[in-house]
Amino acid sequence: MNYAWLRNWQALPQGCATPAETAREELRLAGLDAGLREDAALGEGWEIVEEGGRPVVHGGSRGLLYGAYALMAARKTGLCLPRGVQQPRYTLRMIDCWDNPDGTIERGYAGRSLWFEGGRMAWQPERIAQLGRMLASVGLNVLCINNVNVGEEGARLITEDLPELARLAAAFRPFGVRLMVSIDFSQPLRYGVETADPLSPAVLAWWTARADAVWAAIPDFAGFLVKADSEHRPGPMTYGRSHAEGANMLARALAPHGGVLVWRAFVYNCLQDWRDTHTDRPMAAYETYAPLDGQFDDNVILQVKNGPFDFQVREPISPTFWAMPHTRLALEVQLAQEYTGQQIDLYAMNPMWREWQTELPVSLPAAVAAVSNLGRDENWCGHPFAAVNLYGFGRYAWDPEVSPEEVIRTWARLTYALPENQEDALCLMLLNSRSIYEQYTAPLGIGWMITPHNHYGPDPWGYEYSPWGTYHRADRSGIGIDRTEKGTGFTRQQPPEIAAKYADPAVCPDEQLLFYHRLPWDYVMRDGRTLARRILDDHREGVERVEAMAAVLRELELPEPDRSVALSRMERQLQNAANWRDIISDFVTRLSGVC
Ligand code: GCU
Repeated sequence: MNYAWLRNWQALPQGCATPAETAREELRLAGLDAGLREDAALGEGWEIVEEGGRPVVHGGSRGLLYGAYALMAARKTGLCLPRGVQQPRYTLRMIDCWDNPDGTIERGYAGRSLWFEGGRMAWQPERIAQLGRMLASVGLNVLCINNVNVGEEGARLITEDLPELARLAAAFRPFGVRLMVSIDFSQPLRYGVETADPLSPAVLAWWTARADAVWAAIPDFAGFLVKADSEHRPGPMTYGRSHAEGANMLARALAPHGGVLVWRAFVYNCLQDWRDTHTDRPMAAYETYAPLDGQFDDNVILQVKNGPFDFQVREPISPTFWAMPHTRLALEVQLAQEYTGQQIDLYAMNPMWREWQTELPVSLPAAVAAVSNLGRDENWCGHPFAAVNLYGFGRYAWDPEVSPEEVIRTWARLTYALPENQEDALCLMLLNSRSIYEQYTAPLGIGWMITPHNHYGPDPWGYEYSPWGTYHRADRSGIGIDRTEKGTGFTRQQPPEIAAKYADPAVCPDEQLLFYHRLPWDYVMRDGRTLARRILDDHREGVERVEAMAAVLRELELPEPDRSVALSRMERQLQNAANWRDIISDFVTRLSGVC
């Protein structure tokens, strides 16, 4: 039996209508003698207890399915099942796909869309069932299927293409995965309404009728996701309205159906003049949203990216998380490795997410969402190891304090059957992969030296004269931006106890030093090296660590085609790392005079 997490475990369940039925069928297919006892009071939670010499899963319908998968995974890996009732920390555990109806995927690194082609919905039932199984096996429960940048064709999902959408929703339903779509705020304009002003009764009436139609076709539909007034998308600001007014109008159309309105907080000036040193892009979301705290309806969730910039290797936690105690917030992370190696370079994310938890209380966000790393590639995520992030996100969404070691170990064992020492080596490689990538691309918290637009490989001048607000401002005197009280004042947006950790370069952790501070090249670091020397050393060491990973990878007895794919991508990672080292070292040497 090929049990690999992302492949056919065995035959797929057929003809099941509910997650509980799927649970029963999965256990039967796996040949597991286990009972199921439905207990609606447990909701999505589950508990496995020994009764009459065999395990019995207790749970609500979805809880039964999650418990059944946990049991199957434990049997396969030999790892222990957790004791007691398991409840997810977040109720909305969502994957956001940036798929376009033409079949392409914005920031997609694993092939074409799994459900769109040629402007229409097109999908293989088997792959959808496999995906449903994968998502449910780690407790993920919502899938938003289209790009937040909604075009003409994407907008049709809730109008002309609604019957197709309903068919896809039905395919995911047995796995407890509910669909969501991204909508275009200005969509009423396409249907004869003269404005998209959220305070216009005609606009509310249009959205209300749309929501009624969507829920009539898909009774368990999850809701709408909106990117508004962001990177040239339309939004309420066009009409002089606030984001609370925009979001609440839509939320009121969805409320009678129990739908949620997920509103993204990715708003900043993307037409900044690079000569303007007063505007500091990482401060933008807080400035826009903190004053609106308490103004959003109950079924609005404001989705905030983890950091105040945009999914860089290392960023502070977005200060918006602390600024809105009266608003339901979702934490948005990016599994698609846009800035983190594009599913060519290794980058396992659980260690990074776990680090955040030391600062971000688990109670702050109400939900979690991840930009998808999926595509039509045979192995789903482009690199066979990139699947660890989809798996790991489900585990994190269920329990943000889960140990990265355990997640990576379980994924490795579910996916491969390696001898123990090789499994250890694979796990160690994945655990260290983020710190290695960081070291050869962006040590010390300096982001945005990446090649503009495609975001792979180094280009230290690439974003310096651009309108995107992403500057490092390196010159002969030093590098970085002062974001303390004396500089842009970003630290004022943070709670004082967080700001205190970063505001003084003498105590600021090295990993974030150049996000918060502008420092001269000859600044002496705590380890006695100058800043310039340290940057050069880090890039060199990062490459050496990739070389060491490559040597380990060559020894792993992975099954084909994973072995060939992983090895060929590692060759590209080696080249990428060397490019980063050589180009950034040259840049630093020329500016600083250190060699
Ligand atoms: C990044 C990314 C875009 C995306 C945007 C978003 O800027 O490069 O492709 O549309 O994030 O999150 O909306």
